[in-house]
Amino acid sequence: MKVDNLTHTYSVGTPFERNAVEHISFSVYPGEFVGVIGHTGSGKSTFIQHLNGLLRPTEGHVYFQGQDIWSAPKITHAIRFHVGLVFQYPEYQLFEETVYKDIAFGPTNMGLEQDEIDRRVREAAGFVGLGEALLEKSPFELSGGQKRRAAMAGVFAMEPEVLILDEPTAGLDPAGCESILAQIRQYHRAKGNTVLLVSHSMEEIARNAGRIVVLDQKHIVMDGTPADIFSRAEELESIGLGVPEVTRIAMALRRRGLPIDGAVYTQEALRAEILRLRGGRSIC
Ligand SMILES: Nc1ncnc2c1ncn2[C@@H]1O[C@H](COP(=O)(O)OP(=O)(O)OP(=O)(O)O)[C@@H](O)[C@H]1O
Ligand SMILES: [Mg+2]
Repeated sequence: MKVDNLTHTYSVGTPFERNAVEHISFSVYPGEFVGVIGHTGSGKSTFIQHLNGLLRPTEGHVYFQGQDIWSAPKITHAIRFHVGLVFQYPEYQLFEETVYKDIAFGPTNMGLEQDEIDRRVREAAGFVGLGEALLEKSPFELSGGQKRRAAMAGVFAMEPEVLILDEPTAGLDPAGCESILAQIRQYHRAKGNTVLLVSHSMEEIARNAGRIVVLDQKHIVMDGTPADIFSRAEELESIGLGVPEVTRIAMALRRRGLPIDGAVYTQEALRAEILRLRGGRSIC
């Protein structure tokens, strides 16, 4: 996908008119796992809602496989099946009588055969860890975490080439967060599809994404590998984002004279670095 010079203005022509994103250009390639991070109000949700045609650019263009997604109504309609979006707090979007029907909603609208819909519903439910017994329940009987999984499964079941998740772990406890992230990683590995994960958490992004896009005040201010991005710790701190805790520890050790590699941003990498410096002798 390619976004060219995107600006979005809400409430045009009213006293509330305001730009939410300005002059954003961005490309994402098949199979990438991109983390999108930024402060509240930096424009993350506005930006990603343009990728599946939910919002129309005030200025600029969005291309999918070389075609402007607004160039013809047929293309604009079809983009929703190619680019799946799991909203912030998706559990509020469940509306069918059963969890099964909710997950089947997207594939049914795609006009797929019944057998294929059934296969996708069961596979997607498996990816998000919803057992068969839950499929015939009403979505309203599910717990908060299960509702979120059901909403995610509804998008997974469309098998979109690009999967976008807008803060899928917001409001969950640490175990719930890790389990949802593990399911997203598993889906990405199994299908090889492109994933964009929006998050407030540097730790979450560091552990999952191969590339990071940083938004600040309506603009993309950084775009690179985790190693590139976390080597710019001072700039990140100046926009109030900081680096993962483990990177801060590595930086402090470096300041004390230990020749630790600059690109440490996971616990495993820090552990490997310390082991290397100790010549392979074990540490606790
Ligand atoms: N429907 C809307 N109408 C008017 N202004 C809006 C609307 N949605 C968002 N905005 C404004 O646009 C700006 C960007 O909002 P957006 O929701 O894209 O940010 P965000 O980075 O996703 O924030 P958060 O981390 O809180 O989800 C904010 O100033 C917000 O108040
Ligand atoms: Mg948002």
